[in-house]
Amino acid sequence: MRFSTFMLSAIGLFTGTSFGARILQSNDDGWAELYVRSFNDALNAAGHDVVLSCPADNKSGSRSGAIGTNTTNPRLNWVNSYPVTAMRFGISTISTQFWNGQLPDIAVSGPNVGSNLWLSVPFSGTVGAAVYAAHEAGVPSIAFSGASDGTLAWNTSPPPARSLVYGELARRLTDAVLASGKPYLPSEVWLNVNFPEVGGECTKADDFKWVLSRINIGLFSAPDVNHCGGTRLPTETSVVNHEGCFISVSVGDATDKTTAPEEKQAIVLQKLGNLLTCLP
Ligand SMILES: *[C@@H]1O[C@H](CO)[C@@H](O)[C@H](O)[C@H]1NC(C)=O
Ligand SMILES: *[C@@H]1O[C@H](CO)[C@@H](O)[C@H](O)[C@H]1NC(C)=O
Repeated sequence: MRFSTFMLSAIGLFTGTSFGARILQSNDDGWAELYVRSFNDALNAAGHDVVLSCPADNKSGSRSGAIGTNTTNPRLNWVNSYPVTAMRFGISTISTQFWNGQLPDIAVSGPNVGSNLWLSVPFSGTVGAAVYAAHEAGVPSIAFSGASDGTLAWNTSPPPARSLVYGELARRLTDAVLASGKPYLPSEVWLNVNFPEVGGECTKADDFKWVLSRINIGLFSAPDVNHCGGTRLPTETSVVNHEGCFISVSVGDATDKTTAPEEKQAIVLQKLGNLLTCLP
């Protein structure tokens, strides 16, 4: 008993976060895809209480029926439907056996295999699942997408660096949001996060830097939060395409999938300030 309590606090100190948050995970590429599993591994290793509910896509093996589970690990589940439905079932049904009907502390989606920037945001299943959580279920949420593509199966061994790096980066941002305290995000907000490619100078999680961005070009939009010497944030596309290893973090408005207003950007900036840098 004493030993495990010590272990738990040691892990809590080590990761510097609130210990054991309830995290509901979904994605667009299917439960058997590797990026979502590397992220799942990273969250579990950090001591979180994670339930995965993803689309059944790419049914390797026979899967009939509406929902199903990995028989040796009931926290890994598939829903034979769209990402939004997998998120909805995960929150309303699948997780109830683990959390006694409590909502997740946070919902995460992805990392998607391929970017979800600007014009693709409204059509993205990864974003749709996160927006469902924030808008319909009132659960703070983050959508992650990675520019390095090529879908891999969950049991690819060894996992390539891109999967491990994206999983670790997604875990770090999730922990930063949790460590910022409740409410973890303003209401009707989701974060749209895009990782650049893993490769070249950007091969380890520590090589990457986080930049506050906006989803769409802000030509006629009201000013953004005052940050990095101006009131117009860079677009997420310009951040991810910038030379270097920059990750875009956009504050999304879950009512319409556009950039959230300045007041909500300011709250996220305050929460994540220590993590964020300015584009050079
Ligand atoms: C099911 O879970 C077991 C135990 O965690 C794991 O070894 C196996 O790879 C999983 N299979 C799938 C398809 O998730
Ligand atoms: C999807 O299915 C194809 C063929 O059945 C297989 O080669 C591939 O590895 C699968 N991908 C995943 C992510 O399971």
